[in-house]
This record gives sequence, structure tokens and C-alpha cells, in this order.
Amino acid sequence: MAKPSILVTYKLPSSAIAPLEAVADVDVYRDGVLSRDELLKRVRGKQGIVVAALDKIDRDVVDAGSDLRVIANVAVGYNNLDVPYARSKGIVLTNTPDVLTEATANMAMTLILAVTRRIVEGDRLVRRGDWKGFSLDFMIGSDVQGKQLGVVGLGRIGRVVARKAEQLGMRIAYHNPSARAVPEYTSMSLDQLLATSDVISIHVPLSPQTKHLIDKTAFSRMKRSAYFINTSRGSVVDEDALAWALREGIIKGAGLDVYEDEPRVHPGLLTLENVVLVPHMASATAETRAAMYDLVARNVVNVLTGKPPVTPIP
Ligand code: GLV
Repeated sequence: MAKPSILVTYKLPSSAIAPLEAVADVDVYRDGVLSRDELLKRVRGKQGIVVAALDKIDRDVVDAGSDLRVIANVAVGYNNLDVPYARSKGIVLTNTPDVLTEATANMAMTLILAVTRRIVEGDRLVRRGDWKGFSLDFMIGSDVQGKQLGVVGLGRIGRVVARKAEQLGMRIAYHNPSARAVPEYTSMSLDQLLATSDVISIHVPLSPQTKHLIDKTAFSRMKRSAYFINTSRGSVVDEDALAWALREGIIKGAGLDVYEDEPRVHPGLLTLENVVLVPHMASATAETRAAMYDLVARNVVNVLTGKPPVTPIP
């Protein structure tokens, strides 16, 4: 049988490519972000494709990749893939859950502490030369101990965030759109969670049901002292509404890793002091990325050698 071919849309390290090369010819795109035209061209004749969050694998790509047997996402979220359509063509889809849970939860915690303790704002002030010296009423932030963390989506990552926040002395409430109950924490309706939480952290996947789950009405329900954290997907939140809420003091602050139209960031957010903005990097540690590459390679190799994938998309 002819050796299969795999397209890898990012310049992954050679250690990640080596296991793929053991079973297939590998076409690695090394010139930055693969354009849609190039993707449509290069996917032709490939049996496998390794993609990441910004690659939109829709019907056109699936149709162009008529030989595809596996689509492997280097991410846990898979809103970039048309899963039902690809599946209807007999293609196996995989993602990289679990290995990035701790890193992503740590990013949520980092954003919580960074915004409540005004870390980035303070750093900017020092660098500008605007620090006049220690003062008791200067750069006053908010404590997290004794406060309520409202977790929207208490799944794999949300649970670890809850556990870490408990260590900081926070009470945990959660809302699970899937209605899955987690007995050790307090379940609330979304409205109740928004109205009573001091910090709200989003951990639901993006789907038609969760798009703009947090909109202007949702922000209006939050405490004026609330902080909002998003490490899931930008479009779970209406970014216009978020910029409005931060500008008008409807909420106190926010920490964001993800945006509606990456890499564009809403211009209304860029000028505000009370939001910490980081560039979609929650899983970006050397160790976690290595584990993601290892998992993605095992998924692709398994499917192309007739074995079940390690982490199929459910
Ligand atoms: C990254 O955003 C991921 O879903 O893993």
C-alpha cells in the first residue's frame, strides 16, 4: 500500500514530526499562518491533517480533502472543525484534552490574580516612570480570599480552576449548561451565578448554544465589583458588551486570553487599564506543548495504522 501523506499546518518541532514521518510523507507548512487558498490546495490527496485553533476546517476543506482519514486538532477546543460533516465522510477527528488542563487552569488563575492585584497596570506605571513612591492609598486591588468564584462550565479545566481557587480561600459556585451536577460545589442558574459571584471564569466550549452566552444583559447582572475571566473561546462573550461593561464601570475588571476575531482585539479594550490582555497562550508552556504534540502524533499514527485514536472528539 502507498505511504499515506499528512499535512501539518504549523511549523512543529522536529521531535513532533518524527513519529509522523515514521508512517507517512509529511508536508509541513513552515511559513507562518497557512492561508485558506493554500490550505484548500495542500489538503488535496492527504490522508491526515494536523491543524490548530485558527485553521477553519469547514465543508469546503473537508470536500477538498476527499482522501482524509483523520483530522487532528492541536487544541482541546474544536469549534474550528465541522465535526458532523467530517464525520459523515468517515473521517476520524481528534483533539488534545487533559494534557493542557493544568496549564490552562494556571492561566485562568494568573489572570484572576493579575487583574485583582493590578499587576499589568502597575508594571506599565513603573515603566512609564510614573511611580512617585510607596503610598498607603496607592494601587489598591481586591482580595480573592473569602470571595465567590463563579465557574461557568465545571468540566475538566473548570474543576481544576475551582480546586486551585479553593486553595486561595475562595468559595466555589458553578453553572453547567450541560446540567451535569458536581456535588462538592454549589450549582446555580447562570443568572444567580452572575449576580452573586466576585470573580466569574468561563470554561465552556464554544458552540451555537454558548455563542454570546455572556452578553450585555449578563454583564448588567454582575456586581459592579466583579471581575470577568475568559480562557475558553472569545465568541462565548459579546466583546462589544464586555468593552462597554469595563468602560462604564458595570464590572471592575477582566482578564482575557481569547478574543472574538483573533488576532484582532476589540479596539475598545486596548485603551482600558482595567483589563489584562494576553495573546491566546493558555497552553503555551514548553512541557504542555510537548505533551500536546506527542498526543496529536499518537492520534494520527494510530488512525493511519488502523488503530483507534487515543483521544477522539466525543
Ligand atoms: C486552545 O485554545 C485549546 O483549545 O486547546
